[in-house]
Amino acid sequence: MSKLKFDYSNAMIKEHEYEFLKPQILTAHKLLHEGTGAGNDYIGWLDYPKTYDKNEFSRIKASAKNIKQKADVLVVIGIGGSYLGAKTVIDALSHSFYNELPKEKRKGPKIYFAGHQISGTYLNDLLEMIEDQSVYLNVISKSGTTTEPAIAFRVLKNALIKKYGHDEAVKRIYATTDEKSGALRALATEEGYETFIIPANVGGRYSVLTPVGLLPIAAAGIDIDALMAGAEDGMLEYSVENIDENPCYQYALIRNVQYNKGKAIEVLVNYEPSMAFLAEWWMQLYGESEGKDGKGLFPTKMNNTTDLHSMGQMIQDGPRHIFETVVRVESFEKDIVIESEKVDLDGLNYLVGKNMSYVNYNAFKGTLEAHVDGRVPNLVISMEKKDAYHLGKLLYFFMKACGISGYMIGVNPFDQPGVEAYKKNMFRLLGKK
Ligand code: PA5
Repeated sequence: MSKLKFDYSNAMIKEHEYEFLKPQILTAHKLLHEGTGAGNDYIGWLDYPKTYDKNEFSRIKASAKNIKQKADVLVVIGIGGSYLGAKTVIDALSHSFYNELPKEKRKGPKIYFAGHQISGTYLNDLLEMIEDQSVYLNVISKSGTTTEPAIAFRVLKNALIKKYGHDEAVKRIYATTDEKSGALRALATEEGYETFIIPANVGGRYSVLTPVGLLPIAAAGIDIDALMAGAEDGMLEYSVENIDENPCYQYALIRNVQYNKGKAIEVLVNYEPSMAFLAEWWMQLYGESEGKDGKGLFPTKMNNTTDLHSMGQMIQDGPRHIFETVVRVESFEKDIVIESEKVDLDGLNYLVGKNMSYVNYNAFKGTLEAHVDGRVPNLVISMEKKDAYHLGKLLYFFMKACGISGYMIGVNPFDQPGVEAYKKNMFRLLGKK
């Protein structure tokens, strides 16, 4: 089981710029670890990979087993931090066409997501899609009052009741929510759903390793023991105060050097389609944690090499207010060797005997070189393998770096007051009492 590597040799910064921010890292470390910083009532995620409730964890595994045995489809209902993490891990570690695979080849039921927007078309199509299948629901909402998942849950729950009758529908619903408060907790208690707890001291975007992510991830047949083991090792590795031995703190520091030097945008880059959704999770994590008080880097993404053919020009030659962070996987279980053709009409015979991963690696190297030539700083985070252990570590790496980085720019990395603005207007327009 290996460590993640962080390479900032192309960060385009000077030694003194690195040294200058070291004391800030120490200050942020203290604020986080001593629990004295802003938002300190939401730092339960910090030691969660060690302190999590083992009984609940066993219950998650038992429920996942039940779902795997009985369900054709699991619909995961949630928005923001209540779905992005689960989808990230499921996408990263499952077959690229998981839902399309025949049942015997899948490790769990088909997994669909709902309640992450307000589209009647989407929900209608989903209902049509799952009509003749054995359906289970996992509704996830910490507050229990979020409009998007609440609408989707009402619709899907009623569809289940219509199909199976009330008592059987109840057995098919798992609710993940706050221990005590909120409409979903009240409904779950009233109806008798099996429930899992979102710890009060863990905010949505830091909740992937709690039951929020763990139940759907386990239902997809992914090894949640390995996921938590990776996170726990990450927790230990990234609590080392000495920044020169802590790649997580180095990442937090370097992105702040970039910010101080006037960079406005951080682009998370991947070269593997199954890792594309990681950027969605990461964008919420950093966007919601840092984008406040008029501050913060704007987080965005590139899925390469796809986006090199659409956004590549902008990165290479556009305004120099960006830097890139590449998340790279070093080895793959599956690969394809390029075969020889007698007549080299497509001009590819120079690649005969080479793997696609080799071509992809050189695309990454060539791109990095080009972008650095174009004055775009490049940071690279490498994971040896794309498995549950390394992914658990990577998720923890980003969460820890985000808490540290947020404190470095002087914001509360654990609140999101700005998210309420649209809701307030929407409720007024909808006439909510
Ligand atoms: O990170 C956050 O706090 C948000 O993205 C929430 O996860 C999201 O708004 C969903 O909230 P809830 O789980 O209360 O429905």
